[in-house]
Amino acid sequence: MQLNDPSLLAALPELGVERLPSASIAERTSLAIGGTTDLLLIRRHGGLPDLIALLDRAGIPHRLLGGGTNLLVQDGELPWVLLHLVPGDTDPHLEGRVARVDAAADLGRTVTFCAKHDLGGMEGLIGVPGSVGGALRMNAGAYGTQIGSWVREVELYRAATGRIETLREPSISFEYRHTSFAPDDIMLAVKLELPCKPFSEILRDIRVCNEKRRASQPLNQKSAGCIFKNPPGASAGRMIDELGLKGFAVGDARVSDRHANFFVNAGQARCADMLALIAQVRERVRQAFGVELETEVILWATA
Ligand code: EPU
Repeated sequence: MQLNDPSLLAALPELGVERLPSASIAERTSLAIGGTTDLLLIRRHGGLPDLIALLDRAGIPHRLLGGGTNLLVQDGELPWVLLHLVPGDTDPHLEGRVARVDAAADLGRTVTFCAKHDLGGMEGLIGVPGSVGGALRMNAGAYGTQIGSWVREVELYRAATGRIETLREPSISFEYRHTSFAPDDIMLAVKLELPCKPFSEILRDIRVCNEKRRASQPLNQKSAGCIFKNPPGASAGRMIDELGLKGFAVGDARVSDRHANFFVNAGQARCADMLALIAQVRERVRQAFGVELETEVILWATA
């Protein structure tokens, strides 16, 4: 979608917004799939409510693009303008055991920064790609850690009120790959209260997680992490593997040879290839195990 309303375009710089016309979203997603659209880089969070009000008044559909690491986006000209927060402070601000982190900051960098200040608890998250905001929205987790456990406060743009608000921990629910945030809320910053742990011990535990991840996940390939959520008490990866589907492909969309719940873009995969692969694998699992797998990856796509 292209923005061409002159008064709207003129208002962007005052709001701290830079427009990248017809940006390639494939270049901004870990699957390297996705069409083109105008991308609005937001450098000042304070301008967000006014920007969204302007877009809404002009009837322009919009979505927030975070780190793009858990996202499958359709091809061609996209029917939304995409907003993207540019991190203000890439390093957390520490006050005792509380780290205030910009939502646009890189998750791995945040984990390492806190570790260097003897704050642990997030060791398992070290290899999870993407932004802190994306991790919050999905309650990202790995190796027994989930980010929601450490959240004390979240600053966010609330679509329901059109304002920037602060939510405290008891009013947010964090479940397995699910949170109580509304789909169009935009995370801006978070306060994490972390347990004290010596850096050397955090480093040891980070290394263990890294080794497990390297041994079981296709880290050098283009993927969005696990495609399906694990159903209660079962492993989607194991079920797909048991059906002999590693290597099964639709075009260049392929079930990883290393971990069957990772679907990789092995070349020039299109969104439609990935959707067809998802549908076929889901159907095979349904027939064999009677289980309806739910996608974990966020779909911005029409079938
Ligand atoms: N397994 C197989 N074949 C496979 C993959 C897995 O037999 O191809 C078996 C494993 O041997 C193991 C079991 O299935 O016995 C579980 O596998 P794994 O330990 O790899 O964990 P997972 O349940 O597949 C979850 C998360 C990952 C996270 C790991 C480590 C989900 C959907 N996935 O994977 O998160 O990194 O645990 O904690 O919850 C993600 O969310 O994108 C993601 C990668």
